[in-house]
Amino acid sequence: MTTTDATQTTGHSPEAITDEVRARYAEAALSVLGRGEGRADASAGCCSPSVMTDPSDPAWGQLLYDETDRAALPDAAVLASLGCGNPTAVAELRPGEVVLDLGSGGGIDVLLSASRVGPTGFAYGLDMTDEMLELARSNATEAGATNVEFRKGRIESIPLGDASVDVVISNCVVNLSTDKAAVLGEVARVLKPGGRVGISDVVADDSLSPADRAERGSFVGCIAGALSFAEYRAGLEAVGLGEISVTPTHSVGGGLHGAIVKATKPAAWTMADIHPVDLPKPSNAGLPVLAEGGGCCGDGCGCS
Ligand SMILES: C[S@@+](CC[C@H](N)C(=O)[O-])C[C@H]1O[C@@H](n2cnc3c(N)ncnc32)[C@H](O)[C@@H]1O
Repeated sequence: MTTTDATQTTGHSPEAITDEVRARYAEAALSVLGRGEGRADASAGCCSPSVMTDPSDPAWGQLLYDETDRAALPDAAVLASLGCGNPTAVAELRPGEVVLDLGSGGGIDVLLSASRVGPTGFAYGLDMTDEMLELARSNATEAGATNVEFRKGRIESIPLGDASVDVVISNCVVNLSTDKAAVLGEVARVLKPGGRVGISDVVADDSLSPADRAERGSFVGCIAGALSFAEYRAGLEAVGLGEISVTPTHSVGGGLHGAIVKATKPAAWTMADIHPVDLPKPSNAGLPVLAEGGGCCGDGCGCS
């Protein structure tokens, strides 16, 4: 994998970019918790509560879920929905399965997964932002969910054992990682043999260079960090996953799409099946970390 010093092109190290992401989503969580500082308009990120003033606005992450799912969840979990798809709907979860949601935010997909896998199954949420974890745990308590756990950590270094989950889901988060090759390697590691991936994400047309993507939106707003279709496929192939599909579901403008990413882990997989892959990093994209106006959910937003 090629690594370029982020400071050469952006003035931000990968860690500084991650800190911006964390700050943006901490503010979004605090808004829903009623402890926001009124900076949401300027600083909240993808599908932020700051733009959720019109329930008919299709940019609402919550409108990606059907009425029955929404009705069964605490209001705060629905309000905090910042995704760009509905991964639980495509993952075909079954009773008794163990599910992991990467970048679980306010917990909407973990709670939906928990109800789909039932009392014999389990749903983990993983997030790096304390405020989001607080919100998710509060939502789980309100929902009375007992088969869930929200862990603090980075999706580039998942705090779960090898071959420990049946399904990895994620909703509009992989694009926010500064090391997507590491994320995909971790996904392959934690899946059980035969386990599967069902990710919703923003994906770019193959014709768009990283610089083109950066022109269309910010990193924290889920646009500049989007992989292309070919890059997503190459990343999944490089970590030894099979039955790969990256399917656009809706255009978000400018050659960017909401997409469903699926893959499975072969039964005979070993760690030796993880190979280096050169995926764009913010370091070599020359991108704006923060866009004027707070990034996502404006033109070219990946959330509708
Ligand atoms: C766009 S929100 C999506 C939240 C949730 N999946 C949903 O659909 O509402 C992104 C979430 O991912 C978390 N996140 C972003 N990058 C992360 C990383 N590298 N490791 C762990 N969590 C991350 C943020 O803290 C935030 O809660």
